[in-house]
Amino acid sequence: MDQASAERKLNTSRKGKGMKDTIIKIDVIYNEDSLTGLRRLPDDCIDALITDPPFSFAGGLSNGRSSQVDNQFFSHWWASVCRQLERVLKPDAEGFIWCDWRTAPLIAEGFKPKKQTYNFFRIPQVIYHYREMPGMGRPFRSSVDLIAYLRGPKSKAHRIPNDTQNWISKYWYYGKHEYHPAEKDVGITEQLIEWCSDENSIILDPFLGSGTTAIAAIKNNRHYIGFERDEKYFQDAQKRIENKKAQPLLFARTDIIGASGG
Ligand SMILES: C[S@@+](CC[C@H](N)C(=O)[O-])C[C@H]1O[C@@H](n2cnc3c(N)ncnc32)[C@H](O)[C@@H]1O
Repeated sequence: MDQASAERKLNTSRKGKGMKDTIIKIDVIYNEDSLTGLRRLPDDCIDALITDPPFSFAGGLSNGRSSQVDNQFFSHWWASVCRQLERVLKPDAEGFIWCDWRTAPLIAEGFKPKKQTYNFFRIPQVIYHYREMPGMGRPFRSSVDLIAYLRGPKSKAHRIPNDTQNWISKYWYYGKHEYHPAEKDVGITEQLIEWCSDENSIILDPFLGSGTTAIAAIKNNRHYIGFERDEKYFQDAQKRIENKKAQPLLFARTDIIGASGG
C-alpha cells in the first residue's frame, strides 16, 4: 500500500466522535502531547505500537525513591493513555513498550479491563534486553532493560516463531547516545517491528523521543506516526528522519544475538 492509499484508509476509517476536522497523516511526526494526538486518531486505525513512555516520574527513578504519589500520578495518566491506545489500535494489533522492573507492573495494570472480560488488550510477557553494560548503583548493578509485549484481543502472534526466547542480548551503553538520553537501539527496534507488523503496516509511537521507532520503520518499509511533546527532541527526530530518507538502504539490519527466531 502506498502512502496516499494508506492515508486515505486511515482517514476514512474514523468512527470516533468529534474528529471530522482532524486529519492525521502517516509518515509524519507531530510536536504535541500524546493524549492530544491520540484523541485526533480514528478508531481501529493502527497496526502496531512501539513506544518508550517517560517513567522517570514513576517507580523508574534510578534511585528507586519515587513516592507513592508519583506512582499514583503515573498510573492515573497511563490509564488514560491506555484507553486511547485500545481505541486506536486494531483488535489484532500487537506491540512493544519499553519499561523497567519498577514500571512493568504499572504498564501492565493500565491495560487491565474494568469489567471481567476475555476481550481485551494485555501484556502476556516481558522481554529482557541484556545490554551487558552494567548500569548505576551497587550492589547488583543493572545490566537489563525490559520490554513489555502487548497483544490485542484478536492478535495471533503469528510472526513470532514459537521457540523465540524472551531475551535479547546486545551490547548497548547508554553513555553513547547521540540524540536522546533515553535513546533506544535501532537494531532491536527493527526486531520488535518485524515481530509485530508486516510491510506497509502503520506503526504508532506516541512518545517518539529522537525518532528511533520512525527510523526503524523506514528501514523496514513500514509507515509511522509519532508524537513528541519536547520541541528539541521533536526537531532532532525530524532531522534524523530527513537524513534517513535521503540515504539509500546500504546495509541490512544488524543481527540480534540471542533472539532465536529473530
Ligand atoms: C523515554 S523517551 C523516548 C526516547 C526514544 N525511545 C528514543 O529512542 O529517542 C520518552 C519521550 O516522551 C516524551 N514525552 C513525555 N511526555 C509526553 C507526552 N505527554 N506527550 C508526548 N511526548 C511525551 C519525552 O519528551 C521523551 O522524549
